[in-house]
Amino acid sequence: MQQLDEIRANTLPLIEKAENLSALDAVRVGVLGKNGSLTGLMKNMGVMSPEERKTFGATVNAVKNEIVSALDAKKAALEAKEMADKLAAESVDVTLPARPVQQGRIHPTTQAMEEALTIFAQMGFELAEGPDVEDDWHNFEALNLPKEHPARQMQATFFFDNKNMLRTQTSGVQIRTMENQKPPIKIVCPGRTYRRDYDATHLPEFHQIEGFVVDEKANLANLKSVLVEFFKLFFETDDVQVRFRPSYFPFTEPSYEMDLGGVLARNIGKEWIELLGCGVVDPRVLQNCGIDPDKYQGFAFGVGLDRLAMMKYGIPDLRPMFEADMKWIKHYGFVPLDIPTVTSGLSLNGGKKCD
Ligand code: DAH
Repeated sequence: MQQLDEIRANTLPLIEKAENLSALDAVRVGVLGKNGSLTGLMKNMGVMSPEERKTFGATVNAVKNEIVSALDAKKAALEAKEMADKLAAESVDVTLPARPVQQGRIHPTTQAMEEALTIFAQMGFELAEGPDVEDDWHNFEALNLPKEHPARQMQATFFFDNKNMLRTQTSGVQIRTMENQKPPIKIVCPGRTYRRDYDATHLPEFHQIEGFVVDEKANLANLKSVLVEFFKLFFETDDVQVRFRPSYFPFTEPSYEMDLGGVLARNIGKEWIELLGCGVVDPRVLQNCGIDPDKYQGFAFGVGLDRLAMMKYGIPDLRPMFEADMKWIKHYGFVPLDIPTVTSGLSLNGGKKCD
């Protein structure tokens, strides 16, 4: 009984003095643990007489309960203090400056697309769009490229099955437009195009703008003036020359490749830069869409947009254009003039060049 008194007298102050939860737990283990002092005393009960055991047992339990409730009370107090200390240490300093908000950039291809479409709109062209997943009729057949035509192989195509593919050119939008609209037609068709290509100057995914005009008189002279005017406005210079070389496209007859001369070519040490395909719409293409080729005629052109963006903004290499490298886009991208909002949708007004 005396030992019991001592344990009680020693333990209660130790509990009171414990400075943290682990010190408190050490006190608990010292008294109530497997080898604890109180646990040791309780083991002696086996050798006591029944009377002794009764009184001793009652006192041991009382002391044990007293110690356990002292431990619980101290534990709750220490936990509350720990939480209060943590809250004090982690309090938010509202006077700290905010982290800068990262602003997105407009991709040069998007910017070039916007600038080009704006110019064509000013020249009276309407916007026409078609699906990226195209069928054989619109991507090939109706464009005068029947199944066994060797020119199909020139366009390394991503097929889904015999009938469906990723479009290799925006020219299919010519067909889709003629199926829904009678002449006069004067459209530009921008969009993504796809081919199984990958090297320094070709990527599997790229962008084109197609121009397409059909009416009773549209002719090669009109084609030339549209293209010269477009390039003057797009490259912001009067020093533009164009040259037409005979070429072959199944959907135009005659067909040409247009080269660009003037300051842009000289800038890269050349006299001419091969730029686009064009020609007079083949009568068969009109016929395929139920348009009378004796009454109507037209011209078409298709130009690679990524190339135009590189030339206009001085981008030396095609490949990083679609690698989503933040440093690259920060350097070559455009700061949006309007911050897009959920209600207004994406700003398509373009941006301004930043340094
Ligand atoms: N679709 C052709 C290509 O991807 C480009 C082209 C050439 C489009 C001549 C035309 C055209 O409209 O008349 O290579």
